[in-house]
Amino acid sequence: MPFEPIADIDLSDPAFWDLPIASREGAFARLRAAPGLPYFDVPADELVLPGGEAGRGYYAVTRHKDVLEANRHAEVFRSSPSSSTIADPPPGLNDGNMISLDNPQHARLRTIVSNAYHPTRIAQLEAAIDAEAAALVGRVAGTGDCDFVSEVAAPFPLRNTCLMMGIPESSHAEVLACANTIMVQGKDPAYGGSSAAPADAVIGSFLTLAGMIADLGAYRVEHPSDDVTTALVNADIDGERLTTDELAAFFILLVIGGIETTVAALAHGLDALTRHPEQKALWQADPDGLAVTAANEIVRWATPAMWFRRTVAAPVELGGTELAKGDKVLLFYSSANRDEEAFADAEVFDVTRSPNPHVGFGGPGEHFCLGAHLARRELGSLFRELFRVAPGFEATGEPVPVRSSFYNGIRSLPCRLG
Ligand code: HEM
Repeated sequence: MPFEPIADIDLSDPAFWDLPIASREGAFARLRAAPGLPYFDVPADELVLPGGEAGRGYYAVTRHKDVLEANRHAEVFRSSPSSSTIADPPPGLNDGNMISLDNPQHARLRTIVSNAYHPTRIAQLEAAIDAEAAALVGRVAGTGDCDFVSEVAAPFPLRNTCLMMGIPESSHAEVLACANTIMVQGKDPAYGGSSAAPADAVIGSFLTLAGMIADLGAYRVEHPSDDVTTALVNADIDGERLTTDELAAFFILLVIGGIETTVAALAHGLDALTRHPEQKALWQADPDGLAVTAANEIVRWATPAMWFRRTVAAPVELGGTELAKGDKVLLFYSSANRDEEAFADAEVFDVTRSPNPHVGFGGPGEHFCLGAHLARRELGSLFRELFRVAPGFEATGEPVPVRSSFYNGIRSLPCRLG
């Protein structure tokens, strides 16, 4: 039996996600303190793609220990048929998309992709990230007031991801537009474009990205280079490679999971460092020494992807609630990252926090973010360059949030980079 919901908290009411962050955090604190897992209906604005269905509602998992428990048991808390939508997708949409697959398919894809990120390539990517950070900050520093999201936070991971995959500069703007559209699923026309036909826009973006990488992949079979696409389409040591559809699914996952999340983390990072000047001063005094703890704290603080879904494969108890086969649970990483039981002074932004058992990159377990190391590197590199070239950098106004219950994005953030 579901527990009685707290009457004034409805996570499925789109208006809940328009509340100021402090009010939402207060609501999650009350949910964490209440027994069991509260149940919510499918949100009225949930996008159901043609051939898919809304399906049943979901149980909200808000406590850190319950999120960990679910992720430790991927055999019961499954990522298929979708880990990032409440609605069930059309059959086949997530074939090849490792974040929404379970073993053995997940393990096969994760192995092929992980092999493409061998230590030599990681070292090359790190050097390229540092060079991009220096070039980008060099261009924008000293230009006066600007929008941090469009001038810095978006171009940086966009360029890094495209460079990693070998996508030419002429396609970068299109990649970003598709990423925004898929990420917000029609809930924020100002960010994701057309709200008149959001399903068409989302499917169109999937197809655009799939076509782009299919063309590049085919070319790379004949003309290998040192990019990740080349490694994915050519047989590795075990003779395994990705099919065209799997390559497309991986590229779309990278674009959404690698670009949008990092944009949000960078923008929340600037906002947090401006609001907590003593934390900025601490990090500024030791940019390299604090790079990893500060990056982790920004990811905990921001939690760019606020929840992931699991679907229950067999009867199980979680957080005091009995769940049945087919039940959906949303693991609220954003709430777990503020759980007073897991973090001392959870509401304090502390760039030296250690240990920091945040779940902003998911985990523990098999779906732990494949790009966590690179994402931390991106955050460390970008802020190190800002400390070096534009030490007085600050946000000069309020962030404009992206409208979404899933993505804690920032659409724009005025700043001065001096
Ligand atoms: C601050 C930036 C980032 C955040 C907050 C983030 C967050 C996450 C989270 C929460 C998951 C786990 C999803 C789940 O529990 O089902 C995940 C998975 C994943 N992330 Fe990231 N991510 C970031 C950056 C990146 C980057 C830069 C890349 C690529 C280089 C990347 C690639 C992936 C992939 C491929 C997965 C799927 C792993 C799997 O299912 O085995 N992410 N990410």
